[in-house]
This record gives sequence, C-alpha cells and structure tokens, in this order.
Amino acid sequence: MALWGGRFINESHKLFKKFNTSLSFDHVLAKEDIIASIAWSQALMKSNILTKEEQKTIESALLVLLKEVQDNTQSILTSNSEDIHSWVESNLINKIGKLGKKLHTGRSRNDQITTDLKLWCRKKIYILLETIIELQKNFILSAESNYNVIMPGYTHLQRAQPITFAYWCLAYVEMLKRDVSRLKDVLKRLNISPLGSGALSGTAWKINREELALSMGFKSASNNALDSVSDRDYIIELLSTAAISMMHLSRFSEDLIFFNSGEANFIELSDAITSGSSLMPQKKNPDALELIRGKCGRVYGSLNSILVILKSLPLSYNKDMQEDKEGLFDSIKTWNNCLNIAILVLKNVKIKHKSCRKAAEEGYSNATEIADYLVKKGLTFREAHNISGQLVLHAINENKSLNNLTLSTFQTYSNLIEEDIYKNITLESCLEKRLSQGGVAPFQVYQEIVKAKKRLNIL
Ligand code: ARG
Repeated sequence: MALWGGRFINESHKLFKKFNTSLSFDHVLAKEDIIASIAWSQALMKSNILTKEEQKTIESALLVLLKEVQDNTQSILTSNSEDIHSWVESNLINKIGKLGKKLHTGRSRNDQITTDLKLWCRKKIYILLETIIELQKNFILSAESNYNVIMPGYTHLQRAQPITFAYWCLAYVEMLKRDVSRLKDVLKRLNISPLGSGALSGTAWKINREELALSMGFKSASNNALDSVSDRDYIIELLSTAAISMMHLSRFSEDLIFFNSGEANFIELSDAITSGSSLMPQKKNPDALELIRGKCGRVYGSLNSILVILKSLPLSYNKDMQEDKEGLFDSIKTWNNCLNIAILVLKNVKIKHKSCRKAAEEGYSNATEIADYLVKKGLTFREAHNISGQLVLHAINENKSLNNLTLSTFQTYSNLIEEDIYKNITLESCLEKRLSQGGVAPFQVYQEIVKAKKRLNIL
C-alpha cells in the first residue's frame, strides 16, 4: 500500500502509477534520504517523541540499509515504491516493524525531498570544485610548458595581434576561477536546512530545527516553511553556474577544434582522444571536443526546463517540482564528465611551435605596432592608424609581410619611419610591450603563472 493509502478505496491505475513514480531517478538520493532520516530520528528523540532505545533501533536499521544501498544501489529499482522516501520508510518497517512507522512523525515528503536534494547538490558541488581546480592546474602546466609559443590572437576569427599559447591558457584559468567563485556562492545560499518545515507551514512538534540543521552540516535552519518547501532557487543557481561553465568549456573546445583544423594546424590531438572516419582513412576527428561542445545543449536545456517548471507555480509544493530532478542529475554528471575530458585533452595535445609562429607572422598582426610607433613619433593615433592601414594594403598587394617591406617603401607612406621600425614590429617586440596589467608580455604571463601555481598549490 502507498504511504497515503488510508483515504483511498480503490487502487491507482497502473498507467498513472507508472507516470507518478519517481523512483527510477530519485533512487540516487537514497544515501541523502537515509542520512536526513537519521538526523530526523535524533531530533524526534530530543523532543521525547522517540525514546533513546527507539531512536537507537531506528538509526541502526537505517545504517544497515545504507550499507545495503551502497553495496547495491540498483536493487532499489526492483521495488514498486512510489519514490525514494517511500522506499526508505518501507524498508525500515520491513526491518524493525511497527517502530519504523514512527519515523515520519512531524515530517512531510515536501521538506524531506528538498533536504535530500540540497544534501545531494552540496556533495556534488564539492566534487565539481575539485574537478574545476584540477582543470585549472592542467591549464597552468600547459601554459608553463608552452611558455614561449607565439601564435596569432583573433578577433572576428581574423588574425588580430600576436599572443602566446600560455596566455591563451591563462584566459581559461580566469574563466574557471569565476566558475569556482559562482559555485561557492551557490553553496552559501543553498546550505540552509528546510527539514522541519513539514508540508508547508512548519511542524507542530517541538523540534529544535537549528540543532537539526547543524547536525546535517547546514549553516542554519530556514525561516519560512512555505518558502522552504517551494524553494528550488538553488537548482536554478547551480544549473546556471553549470551552463556558464559549460559555455566556457564549449569555447575552449571550439578554439582547439579550430587550432587542430588543417587550416590552422597549430596543435595535434593524440590518438587517445580522437577517432577516425569509417569511410575516409585520412581522418582523425576531434570527437572529444565536439562532444563537450554538443553537450552544452543538454545543460542549457535543463536550466531552461527548471526555469519554466517554476514559473507561475503557486506556493507551495506542487508535483510539477518532481520534474526538477532528471535534468539536474544529468547536467551535473555531464558537466563533471566534460571537465574531466577537458583535462584529458590538455594532457593529450601537442603544440606545433613552428606553424603557430608562422601564422602569427603572416597575418599582419603587427600592424598595430606600426601605428603605435608613429604615435611615438608625434602623429595622432587616427593618422597613424591610417598610414599603417595603407602599409598593410601595400604589403597585401605585394604578397609580403610588413617586416619584409623596404625602408624606402615605409618612407613613401611616412617620412617619420626610420630604420628602428623593424625592431619595433617583431613578434617579440609586440608581446614585450604589452606589460600593463593583464597584458600578454611574457614577463607578465610568467608572474601570472607563478601566482596561479602558488594559489593552486602546484609545487
Ligand atoms: N517525489 C516527490 C518529488 O520529487 C517527492 C515529494 C512528494 N510530495 C508529495 N506531496 N507528493 O517532488
């Protein structure tokens, strides 16, 4: 019989039963449901609703159940319980009989489910934080070992100004730093306990909710039961953090897919992370990266889904909210997998120094230097920009790079240009001049690497 069978005369239709059950996906909350149930039994004991003996019996049985679940989570799926809460309760009753029926005193599945979900999210956030930090470490190591590799930096996917591979790596470290800070922020607001909120208006039993919250590692108990059982903001925050981070991973993938293309030819991805074509023998495809890019879609989908589920949903709990889980579980798994694959990619990429440098030399990416040079000689930037543009056009027509123009050619465009122009427009000079904070100058990049290594404890 269902937990709520008393008021009913007839059985549920089997189609409805199947439609209504959440066990096929919420079974992953078994551990959290058991831990929160133990905490609840202790609170009941402290309020003299359970005797010490009764609580001990309940707790021991729940711990046995926990062990059984850890050994074989899949076994839950063979049951026909409606959800994980019913499953835990009926298994407890199977183990200790009538006493198990006392556990639900003062509690509702409405405060139970959101407590379980918060505990689950918290556990996953700790794992994600570690994975993101690991990815940052790999970017730093990659930056360090490719410290001197000069390549073109792009805007509009046009070669713009020279950068280094190390500098490109550090850009992603910054993005990941923001992802970490967003995750920590989610944790701050999430870590408030809803348990003891009852169905929607609080519990009629004298439960010390603050003590109960602390016993589960929450910072405090929530203030308003109506809000607590309705609140899924933390899922929205977590999924938007996931969506933003997946966007970062997707841009990383796209950059590398382009760097790996025959057209750019800046990197080579190892056999370990690429696959072939069933038809074209020459192909070595960047599947790992394409999959990260593609999986972004399902995470955005889950974020959109939870936003739509909650929009206009009246207070407090509605069964619509059961739809919060599958997208959340899938997205967190997907995000963590993609972070791990990004780590694997970084370990399996070879940078082709020569072709990176050649591309940087070829793309007129030092045209800004000519303009800056002329500004130093007294022109306004706008005039200097115009002359540099004319020189680029000249070089394009002659199919040359700017460094290969003769001094007399330079001087037909401006007599302010002297022999020192050549040393001003080398790739090295372009880089070294950008010493201001956040710039690409190798010294600046070196300082950033040292700082990051210290911050991440890389020895
Ligand atoms: N399976 C439900 C969910 O995921 C648990 C809460 C059920 N509460 C209720 N009043 N039916 O949302």
